[in-house]
Amino acid sequence: MRSRIVVLISGGGTNLQAIIDACIAQDYPGEVVGVISNVGDAYGLTRAKNSAIPAITLSHKEYDSRENYDLALIKEIDQFSPDIIVLAGFMRILTPKFVQHYCGKLLNIHPSLLPKYQGLNTHQRAIDAGDKEHGVSVHFVTEELDGGPVILQAKVPIFAGDEAADLAERVHEQEHRIYPLVVKWCCLKRVVMDNDQVLFDNSVIPASGYASEE
Ligand code: GAR
Repeated sequence: MRSRIVVLISGGGTNLQAIIDACIAQDYPGEVVGVISNVGDAYGLTRAKNSAIPAITLSHKEYDSRENYDLALIKEIDQFSPDIIVLAGFMRILTPKFVQHYCGKLLNIHPSLLPKYQGLNTHQRAIDAGDKEHGVSVHFVTEELDGGPVILQAKVPIFAGDEAADLAERVHEQEHRIYPLVVKWCCLKRVVMDNDQVLFDNSVIPASGYASEE
C-alpha cells in the first residue's frame, strides 16, 4: 500500500511539484492525497488541481489565535488519513500541540545547512557571512523551530558576485532532488525519528544527515 502524503504549502509549490512528479513512478511508495495552503492564491494549489489532487485553502487570517488555527489545520489534515505530512514552503510557526500530534510523521525542508541560518532570509545571510557554501536540509519537525533532526542535506557553492536570487535558484534545484528522495525513505520507513535522532535502516545517522562527511 502506498503511503498517504499530505503537503502543506504557502507559495509557488515547486517542491510540491517535485513530489507529485516523483509519485507518478509506478514503484514510488507514496501518493499525494491532499494539499493545504494557508494562502488562497498560492500557485501550489493550482499545481495540485492540475494533478487532480484535492486542494484546500485554510487561511490563518480567519482565526484569532495560532492554537485555534492549528487545531483547524489538524482537522483538515486528518480528513485525509495521512501517513506523512510534508511541509513544502509552509511559512507558519507551528504550535507544540500540532507538532506533537504528528510526531515522527512531519517533515520540513529548510533552505540552509542547518543548524546554520534557522528562520528567514537564509540565502542573503549566507552571502553576508562570506560563506563559501550553502545548501538545504530536510528534517523531522520538533517543537524547536527549524531545529528537528536532519535527515539529508545537499550543498551548493557560493560564487563571488552571487545574489540571493542566484543562490535561491541553485538551492531550489537541490531541494527538488532531495525532498522526493527523503519522502520516499519515510514512506518505506527506512528513515524514522527516535528520541530526537534519525535512524536510517535501524542505524543512527550523523547530526548533519545521511550524506554527512563527518
Ligand atoms: C523552499 O525554498 C523551501 O526550502 C522554503 O520555502 C521555499 C518554498 O518553495 N522553506 C522555508 O523557508 C521554510 N522555513 P516552493 O514553494 O517553490 O516549494
